Amino acid sequence: MSMRWNPDSWRNKPVVQMPTDYPDARALAAVEDELSAMPPLVFAGEARKLTERLAQVEAGEAFLLQGGDCAESFKEFSTDNIRDAFRLILQMAVVLTFAGRKPVVKVGRIAGQFAKPRSSGLETIGDVTLPSYRGDIINGMAFTAEDRLPDPQRLLKAYHQSAATLNLLRGYASGGYADLYNIHRWTLGFAGDNAYGARYRDLADKIGEALAFMEAVGVTPATHPDLARVEVFTSHEALLLNVESALTRLDGSTGEWFDTSAHMLWIGERTRQLDGAHVEFMRGIRNPIGVKCGPTLEPDELLRLIDALNPDNTPGRLTLIGRFGADKVGDRLPGLMAAAKAHGKRVVWSIDPMHGNTLKAANGYKTRPFDRILAEVRSFIDVAEAEGVHPGGVHLEMTGQNVTECLGGAQAVTEDDLSSRYHTHCDPRLNADQALELAFLVAERLKAGRQARSAAA
Ligand code: PEP
Ligand code: CO
Repeated sequence: MSMRWNPDSWRNKPVVQMPTDYPDARALAAVEDELSAMPPLVFAGEARKLTERLAQVEAGEAFLLQGGDCAESFKEFSTDNIRDAFRLILQMAVVLTFAGRKPVVKVGRIAGQFAKPRSSGLETIGDVTLPSYRGDIINGMAFTAEDRLPDPQRLLKAYHQSAATLNLLRGYASGGYADLYNIHRWTLGFAGDNAYGARYRDLADKIGEALAFMEAVGVTPATHPDLARVEVFTSHEALLLNVESALTRLDGSTGEWFDTSAHMLWIGERTRQLDGAHVEFMRGIRNPIGVKCGPTLEPDELLRLIDALNPDNTPGRLTLIGRFGADKVGDRLPGLMAAAKAHGKRVVWSIDPMHGNTLKAANGYKTRPFDRILAEVRSFIDVAEAEGVHPGGVHLEMTGQNVTECLGGAQAVTEDDLSSRYHTHCDPRLNADQALELAFLVAERLKAGRQARSAAA
């Protein structure tokens, strides 16, 4: 690891998963300069607060819920989409808070989640081969040579869309829309409509009783304005380092560098090379960061990554996001958790049950079965409990829209249904019902763990 870090030191390291075919390098540099002069999207103090919240997760006192689109897009940018994503995160958080009896730290994959790593740099259809689509911040999804050419103007468009998205999220979070009683009313609608509604109604009823009790003793949003406010943070994969370094600013009060494009950033499974550009960039920013941990990661490599990214062992700084697949998590996770624990590493463990459970349906659609997603989360909690580690959180690809991208769930999306509302710009997402159902099922599991612990105590 080189000694000197600066926001551009990543440029001297091997770069993977970033486009190398910008037709005009000067146009890209000019856009980077323009972004360097733009206002920050988030402040250092907010990122620091998220580190504190995540330190509570690391200590077993809170739970992390991170979720949102696989890829935001220019086309799907709308008030309704942002509102529904926000609402879904809050609904899931209420269910998880009630069952786990712990605060839920809410982090959206939103307001900047545009760039995508790809397993292949090229895509072939028939006898035509073109560069792969890499997310709207880089190139276009249409299968034409023109669309697939990287365009620097897209960086600016993504910045402005992120700013507008964040502005609306901030309004919802502080403007009374997120009143706890409102959130519960939406969830009752879900428990009433859902095919397995009875199963959830019990939990929903208990939440309702708790709220009624609070109201009776005078604890309402009118008397306690905090009940009508929520804290929601933003995150995305720090993939396109041109944008991330342009938005990285020195915090005058501490002399620390923060990437002001989001509160939290993570390194993807394909860009976590120890000597690579992404690890180099991420080690120098002081935001809370994540690293995806897939099935090929070995414990010694994980320990080196932890040392590179969190040399001071600061709690809340580093979240390890497992993404193994339901069939591999039981084999691969215990060794990683045990190694980190044995070396006293203060890390948050979270699970991404999406990226290891992708398959191709017979009709060609990329999909993920709900049962496998749930199975990976359950195995994650089992392993964590066996290792004496806090199962800190979940990381999901989901949307507030009623899409048909993942199979199963109470509404039983089938392979034939996939074509009806398949809108994702990259990977298949849980729809609102599937995501809320997952929250209920994870809540049941967390509650069982809590009850077992208190019986043993
Ligand atoms: C993602 O989170 O969208 C992603 C690409 O994940 P991973 O890096 O784990 O494959
Ligand atoms: Co994805």
